[in-house]
Amino acid sequence: MSEKLRGKVAVVTGSGRGIGRAMALKLAGEGARLVLNDLDDEPAMAVREEIIALGGEAVACCGSVAEAGFADRLIGTATGAFGGLDILINNAGYTWDNVIQKMSDAQWDAMIDVHLTAPFRILRAAQPVVRALSRADAEAGRRVVRKVVNVSSVSGVFGNAGQVNYSAAKAGIVGLTMALAKEWGA
Ligand SMILES: NC(=O)c1ccc[n+]([C@@H]2O[C@H](COP(=O)([O-])OP(=O)(O)OC[C@H]3O[C@@H](n4cnc5c(N)ncnc54)[C@H](O)[C@@H]3O)[C@@H](O)[C@H]2O)c1
Repeated sequence: MSEKLRGKVAVVTGSGRGIGRAMALKLAGEGARLVLNDLDDEPAMAVREEIIALGGEAVACCGSVAEAGFADRLIGTATGAFGGLDILINNAGYTWDNVIQKMSDAQWDAMIDVHLTAPFRILRAAQPVVRALSRADAEAGRRVVRKVVNVSSVSGVFGNAGQVNYSAAKAGIVGLTMALAKEWGA
């Protein structure tokens, strides 16, 4: 294990599989303590076991990122388990494709909920924690380094046939990220 991120607290949504799992394992390998998440316990707990077997630390906060109240639960898990929040990765998601004339309101709403509203709520819940921790770091003369990663898609930047819902949500997260960089960049 490397020491590069030793002691840092990293939250990765949708980290039971795929890209989220790979990011969680990479961060843990660099010394970060992980808050994992997935829809169900099983994949998140399997990644937790992998991290612990490598000598790292991880807890899981399972459930849908789109659930009411989830954002506070997720941020509360990071502060409750590890007392901090340094890296926040909004990764959880899936696709539910159809051409526009066949796309239901449910398909549209599901993509906006998971890829745009959930990251918004998680970042809103994180703000008081990030502010307090960053202020404490600055007052103690520590270099303040915190990171937000919002996962978009080529579909959000260039569009993709059959994915007006997903493309709109992934374009939306790009706009959210640019606006938040102006709010939090300093
Ligand atoms: N795979 C690609 O080619 C690709 C390309 C561009 C962007 N992305 C984006 O990358 C991210 C990860 O994709 P992936 O390819 O690793 O997918 P994946 O399906 O392999 O993994 C996504 C994980 O997120 C979980 N998840 C889905 N909905 C959730 C919810 N509501 N709450 C909590 N967890 C949830 C799934 O159970 C799964 O374990 C997504 O945001 C996706 O849109 C993927």
